Amino acid sequence: MSVRRLADWADTRLRRLADEHGTPLYVHDHDRVRENYRRLSDAFPDADVLYAVKANAGRHVLTTLREAGAGAECASAGELKRALNAGFDPSDVHYTPVNPPARDLDYAVDRLAGTDATVTVGSADTLDRLAERGFAGRVLVRVHPAVGAGHSAEVATGADAKFGVARDRVHGVLADADDRGFDVRGLHAHTGSGLLTASDRDDHRTVVETLAGLVAESPVTLDRVDVGGGFGVPYRESEPPLDLDAVATATRDALAGLDVDLAIEPGRYLVADAGVLLATVNTTKETDGDLLAGVDAGMTTLIRPALYDAYHAVRSLAPDAADRITVPTSVVGPVCESADVLAEGRDLPRVERGDTLAVGNAGAYGVEMANTYNSRPRPAVVALDGADERLVRRRETLADLTTHEA
Ligand code: LLP
Repeated sequence: MSVRRLADWADTRLRRLADEHGTPLYVHDHDRVRENYRRLSDAFPDADVLYAVKANAGRHVLTTLREAGAGAECASAGELKRALNAGFDPSDVHYTPVNPPARDLDYAVDRLAGTDATVTVGSADTLDRLAERGFAGRVLVRVHPAVGAGHSAEVATGADAKFGVARDRVHGVLADADDRGFDVRGLHAHTGSGLLTASDRDDHRTVVETLAGLVAESPVTLDRVDVGGGFGVPYRESEPPLDLDAVATATRDALAGLDVDLAIEPGRYLVADAGVLLATVNTTKETDGDLLAGVDAGMTTLIRPALYDAYHAVRSLAPDAADRITVPTSVVGPVCESADVLAEGRDLPRVERGDTLAVGNAGAYGVEMANTYNSRPRPAVVALDGADERLVRRRETLADLTTHEA
């Protein structure tokens, strides 16, 4: 099954989990993570699959993907620490820092110097900063391809000069790194996040062609191209799934004639549809517009709708949902911000106080982006593994909110 929709989750199980653990609650299904990994690695049989840890850094997720055969792509010292603690071998780790704080580089060099880990540098002076700390290991140079795509402008990374070295400077940086004794392996780029359409695929192909052209003309022999992540999933019920084979073919075609190893860095594709968020309706309010369902999850639990105007499917888990009339409904959270909306204008069975609602595709950038604004403790996470159910992250308490204060 190339896509798991919100309707495919067993409602009785989700209702029971909400009862047992309370809400808001993230539920992550590891069988689904494995299925997603298998489908992706089948489509890219020759590629190293490096899981982009930022999508969901829970230890349970990292362990599942390591056991499935993935490597790890880490954007920070914290992600690196989590990946190494979860047992990833440094040779399967790519560290891809963006404007890294000194403290991050100190940690990374301490853990990675002398190993086969790869550091992907996005600016020339990151090489200086690595050299100053005594790192002379494997490096990729991240290219700013000046072409981006994605589910919204905020994640069209390839178009943002913050990321990567300008194309006309890449060869100079490669030569410099080689002169200084780094083990220069190849190039990297990330087009953007949430690539789903044929037009997104064309942009991805253009980015890979840019990398291929730079490899072909490189002053240093290169044997690796990392084309980043970005493989999208359909968030709307009507959206078709990504044509993964077409993306794989476009990637291979763009690299035709080059003798290079391929790496990909999927985050969302592996975990998004393996997760749902459960919330309880606390208040209902009639308005001149939609019926408002006030729930106990909001922009601090799942920030994507507020931050990117992202769409997440919502389903009522009320046992008698099928008998209720359908009403245009907006689902809003408990935070004192107008932006605290999870869903707008959805046709839902008339909600009632105490109902459980499920929010779909919450496995990527869900709990990972949760925060404590309004002094709201972060939610709990339950991992499903076949029939096994395990609380893998306890619900934060009010006491947790002040543990770091002097
Ligand atoms: N590799 C690099 C270098 C990246 O910057 C990213 C994502 C990935 C891989 C993984 O991308 P994915 O396969 O998950 O699309 N918070 C946003 C997504 C930001 C992604 C940033 N970089 C969201 O919730 O949509």
